[in-house]
Amino acid sequence: MPSYRIAAMGGDGIGPEVIAAGVEVLKVCAERDGGFTLEFTDFDWGSDYYRRHGVMMPADGADRLRAYDAILFGAVGAPDIPDHVTLWGLRLSICQPLDQYANVRPTRVLPGITSPLRNVSGPELDWVIVRENSEGEYSGVGGRAHKGLPIEVAQDVSIMTRAGVQRIMRYAFRLAQSRPRKLLTVVTKSNAQRHAMVMWDEIAAEVAAEFPDVTWDKMLVDAMTMRMVIRPQTLDTIVASNLHADILSDLAAALAGSLGIAPTANINPERDAPSMFEPIHGSAFDITGKGIANPVATFWTASMMLEHLGEPAAAARLMKAVERVTADPALHTPDLGGRATTRQVTDAVCEALRQAN
Ligand code: NAI
Ligand code: MG
Repeated sequence: MPSYRIAAMGGDGIGPEVIAAGVEVLKVCAERDGGFTLEFTDFDWGSDYYRRHGVMMPADGADRLRAYDAILFGAVGAPDIPDHVTLWGLRLSICQPLDQYANVRPTRVLPGITSPLRNVSGPELDWVIVRENSEGEYSGVGGRAHKGLPIEVAQDVSIMTRAGVQRIMRYAFRLAQSRPRKLLTVVTKSNAQRHAMVMWDEIAAEVAAEFPDVTWDKMLVDAMTMRMVIRPQTLDTIVASNLHADILSDLAAALAGSLGIAPTANINPERDAPSMFEPIHGSAFDITGKGIANPVATFWTASMMLEHLGEPAAAARLMKAVERVTADPALHTPDLGGRATTRQVTDAVCEALRQAN
């Protein structure tokens, strides 16, 4: 019987609250399935670790994670530490060395949840956003000179490589091909950014030739925001650069009802290092410690993790249990307009899993 080793890292704010809920639900999943076991190891890396050690994680942190089959990650960010320190010190310091270059973000309107779009009742909005997760605008290349002087200069350089663009395009086309509509939209900004984005478009067209059964089109990122709102049903799989997809996926999460239900997976498709699964949301200082964080995003990403580990039946069972729970407005947390607590939603999902066949 396979046994999977999971690194559980709550991080900051509501991160530890939702990851504790996720671990609890995953344990019930494994018990209910009976065909595999999960072994969790807790990592206390994050802002508290930073206050004690001056770093967000040990220098060999990413390497230590290589021993695990997957990483379940909460959120990072604290009010008293600059966001670029926390984000680069932990999340990006894991994603980049482990080469988790495909960030996958499914968006659907779950049963019982109301989209703010009046023309969406459910099936009209069913997307997967693929975000380039290793380079582009967040490559970390750049610098500052003349700090604090009137002549100060600052640069963030967006890096796009042929290899990096090719691999994310291939991933996106393959994913589009695996979905019923076989439809891909490539997001770009090649009208204004005339070097890297033009190469991005060229490589998209080259890779498209390898996937003759996938219908694809190209959309400027600004126009894409309108299309997501006005004609959501014309979209299915979407691929975009690191920055573009970062922004578009928050919009997607809001259109699907709440940031509190949106999941993501940082995938290393070649599987030469573990992939990392996390809710899209951050550490949400405003609700930390109140027991009302919505754990659904974490449950959904836990289901993606099971799928990635090769347990599709358990993954589907978990998603069904989550949908049974979201269908009941009495089990909605405040971000969805309800009054339920993290505890109540977690218990309800565990119960639905035990009852599932
Ligand atoms: P946020 O996602 O933490 O919160 C935005 C709003 O959504 C808040 O009103 C919050 O209460 C609500 N919200 C988020 N998740 C929720 C959940 N599960 N249930 C109910 N309500 C939820 O984003 P914000 O406020 O911009 O950032 C806070 C901190 O988190 C910052 O330090 C930021 O850098 C960090 N952050 C970290 C991310 C990560 O670790 N991947 C992603 C986004 C932000
Ligand atoms: Mg973001």
